[in-house]
Amino acid sequence: MTVAIEMGSTSAGSPATLDLEELLATRLLVQGNSGSGKSHLLRRLVEQSAQWVQQVIIDPEGDFVTLAEAYGHVVLDAAAHTEAALQQVAARVRQHRVSVVVNLESLETERQMRHAAAFLGGLFDVDREFWFPMLVVVDEAQLFAPAAAGEVSDEARKASLGAMTNLMCRGRKRGLAGIIATQRLAKLAKNVAAEASNFLMGRTFLDIDMARAADLLGMERRQAEMFRDLNRGHFIALGPALSRRPLPIRIGDVQTDGRTGNARLMPMPPSAAPADARDLIMKPGENESVRAMSRPTPASTADILAQLAASQPPQPPAFSLASEMAAHPVREMPPKPSLDDVLREVLGDPEALYRNVAQVYQDFLVRCRQYAVNGRSVDLAAFRRKMATARAGVDAETADTPEWEKALALSTAMPEDFQSVFLMLARAAHDQTPCPSNAQIARARGSRSPRRALGLLEFMEQRGLIIIDMDAYGARVIELPALGWKTGAGNPDALDEDEVA
Ligand SMILES: Nc1ncnc2c1ncn2[C@@H]1O[C@H](COP(=O)(O)OP(=O)(O)O)[C@@H](O)[C@H]1O
Ligand SMILES: [Mg+2]
Repeated sequence: MTVAIEMGSTSAGSPATLDLEELLATRLLVQGNSGSGKSHLLRRLVEQSAQWVQQVIIDPEGDFVTLAEAYGHVVLDAAAHTEAALQQVAARVRQHRVSVVVNLESLETERQMRHAAAFLGGLFDVDREFWFPMLVVVDEAQLFAPAAAGEVSDEARKASLGAMTNLMCRGRKRGLAGIIATQRLAKLAKNVAAEASNFLMGRTFLDIDMARAADLLGMERRQAEMFRDLNRGHFIALGPALSRRPLPIRIGDVQTDGRTGNARLMPMPPSAAPADARDLIMKPGENESVRAMSRPTPASTADILAQLAASQPPQPPAFSLASEMAAHPVREMPPKPSLDDVLREVLGDPEALYRNVAQVYQDFLVRCRQYAVNGRSVDLAAFRRKMATARAGVDAETADTPEWEKALALSTAMPEDFQSVFLMLARAAHDQTPCPSNAQIARARGSRSPRRALGLLEFMEQRGLIIIDMDAYGARVIELPALGWKTGAGNPDALDEDEVA
């Protein structure tokens, strides 16, 4: 059975269809100048095919996040995750068959490329048993597969270009169907563009893009002139999944809104007196803080993983892919956790310990809202202490003892930079374990530089907070005079086990 989704209508008024199964095998390239309607077209395609096939959207402009509510796509804020974490998430996306939007909007180009490469790499590298068909939509693909070296590092460009080449050239066997859109065909790497057999060509002004389009489509350059006169939302369709001959079509409506509207001129409001105008912009308005707070916060890696594990694959109607899809059981939501559970979950993520306290606190609040737990009962100051305790590696039992309370109280009086290190040393002293190495101390500070950790220790010693003692064998003991405690002897240059693992 073939599934034909309706992309819009032809000039004769008949439906313009796209054969989804053919598309999986033959990929699609969309080209058109900025404002020609490419993102709208991609949205139409995604909406119409959402019930049939899993989808991933690489979204450099945050255009597609609105698909989440209507179609259940999980939105991944790429800025909130490391490349390694994104790669892992991608593997789980395939395993659990969840449709996602990878929002790259808050990253600068170099990191957009690296993060997209990591995610695409994760999709590509999964075990054979997870090679289910999926559409991989990449908007503004020239960013990820640039034809020429730009301002980004060679390394980022190679990673990103490699991932795009894999997607378009070798993805098919793995079930990945690349759908890429670009505003400048001449800026898109040739080998990436060449792997698409279907084309939707929109309005194009520049001769060089027109010439590239003509070459790709096997048209006379003169014939390609027709792209110049296309209106917004009008495209020429060609390819095995679309039409055997160049077919002008108009893309139909979409259900969800894009976020980048067209700027329209609007009459100015009646002007206020200059003094009033100044007040209007300098003073916070009513409810303003509420609005600022309600901006969606990026979810943490653990969050997204929990969401992925809890979501269910799309329920497909009868389709030749259906048997594969149906084979996957629906996962159940976990029972409602307590506040402590949520805290443990958030602070249990090793990545969280490297991040800024305020950000992790926001994650914590978001997670609490998801679980309908009142997170505000832990304020930022309390959260900071909990995080410092977690960074120090203190277990829940120790954290509740009076001795530890004393260490905690001492630490809160110190400059923030010292707190987590002090607590880590206190913990080693309390538990009579070896003095932590520089690498471990670096980690407790949320950094990865052992050299700086050593510098900090020396600084703390100058301030009289600790006393560093080396024994004849090069092992280090640190004393905490205010507590009257001393750590065991430890090798300062030992590697951080958690890092090695
Ligand atoms: N087929 C269409 N029907 C109605 N509006 C459209 C259509 N195509 C594009 N638009 C509108 O035109 C504007 C620009 O479209 P967009 O898809 O963002 O362009 P591009 O991604 O090519 O820069 C958007 O406001 C979009 O909603
Ligand atoms: Mg766009």
